Amino acid sequence: MLEHAATLILEAWKSFDRARPNQPPPAAHHLEMLNTPLPAEGCEPVVALDAAADVLDVSLAQSRPRFFAYIGSSGLEIGVLGDALMASHDVNVATSAGAADMLEAQTIRWVGAFTGFDPEAQGLTAAGGTVSNLTALTAARERALPGTRRTGVGGRRMALYCSAEAHYSVRRAAEVLGVGADNVRAIPIDEQRRIRVDECARAIAADRRAGVVPVAVVATSGTTLTGAVDDIDGLADVCAEHEVWLHVDGAYGLPAAATERAGKLFEGLDRADSATVDAHKWLYVPKSCSVLLVHDAVALERAFSHREGYMLHGDEQLNPVDRTLEYSRPLSALKLWLAFRVHGARAIRAAIERNLEQAALLASLLRDDERFELLGEPQLSVVCFRRRHGGDIDAHHAALASALAADGRIAIAPAEVDSGTWLRACFVNHRTTEEDVRAVPDVVGEISDALLSATA
Ligand SMILES: Cc1ncc(COP(=O)(O)O)c(C=O)c1O
Repeated sequence: MLEHAATLILEAWKSFDRARPNQPPPAAHHLEMLNTPLPAEGCEPVVALDAAADVLDVSLAQSRPRFFAYIGSSGLEIGVLGDALMASHDVNVATSAGAADMLEAQTIRWVGAFTGFDPEAQGLTAAGGTVSNLTALTAARERALPGTRRTGVGGRRMALYCSAEAHYSVRRAAEVLGVGADNVRAIPIDEQRRIRVDECARAIAADRRAGVVPVAVVATSGTTLTGAVDDIDGLADVCAEHEVWLHVDGAYGLPAAATERAGKLFEGLDRADSATVDAHKWLYVPKSCSVLLVHDAVALERAFSHREGYMLHGDEQLNPVDRTLEYSRPLSALKLWLAFRVHGARAIRAAIERNLEQAALLASLLRDDERFELLGEPQLSVVCFRRRHGGDIDAHHAALASALAADGRIAIAPAEVDSGTWLRACFVNHRTTEEDVRAVPDVVGEISDALLSATA
């Protein structure tokens, strides 16, 4: 069974090495199999494993080198094996679990050192960037209004501050934490689509005057839509002056802080109270493995520590559940620990640099091609662009995005920017080659031409 599984995994890895000509849709036999009732009896494991691999083969795998849609992950091979080992032992890092806790803590320190947040960082791994952001903002709320976790928010008015283009998870945290989505101050952005630091300071001062408690400022680095990196240092000054928690949402972009090419964009990172990094995005490991970094876990403990009769508590002993909102938690740090051990920081940094270069290459190809218009120079590895077109440009790009999905040679997402429809390519995959990048203008141009001539 294990040998057969290994064969299937190897076949998948080989197929990810090169782009395939299209994305095959589920066939009639898949639909039939996926509608069969609950099996009363079992079957041979190899038969079921083959069926599973068959379903996955007609599913959109982010591991493929031409998956440029959204911010994917790339299923780094050692990470896949890490997941298999992790699941075999199935350690639960909700409670103290021996050496596994130390491995998680070491991984957090390595991420702190890699990004420049703090080589002695504390924190934990979480299910995703959404959970890491919520966990950090829960600690921020408890610091801004101590005791809220017990008393509830009552009539107290609170606010969060972030770029108008921050990820939705900030708004969701405001909803869950009783801050209220209406009290997320979506601060205007500048011409580089970064938060206006002066506007943020003004909003905090105005709220303080009105009796509203500022809970946290969220610096996005970089934004999901365009990869813009907020001025962390400038926001750190504002937060220091107003005594407000600074959280960096680097779920997507923070690994680029380790690079020569983009590192300076992240100046001031070490001054933030907390930071989110999704290792399942730009540190290449499979989903899911988000990392929440803090300088001192005490702030998390103030928000989450508790006592319950069904867990072991020594005199001073806290469990990982005393620092986060999740209970049962897999040792997802293991795959990242293995990735750092097997590849080393240098190779991982080089892979991120390559993705940055790929975005720059695509931008230059599009700039030199009169058929295309670029939204702006990429700060990280997201490139937004569109086909110049005299007619209804938004309708054309909506249709183009669907036609590209149906064509299946490249996976690319549509993006709503300033009320217009653009295309958006994101490079976060270690398997992507220069040839894959060059396919983007070729395929988009060809499909766009076909749509235009069909409607002419
Ligand atoms: C900037 C940013 N923050 C948070 C998230 C949410 O992360 P997750 O999907 O892991 O919950 C994303 C996802 O793309 C993101 O780009």
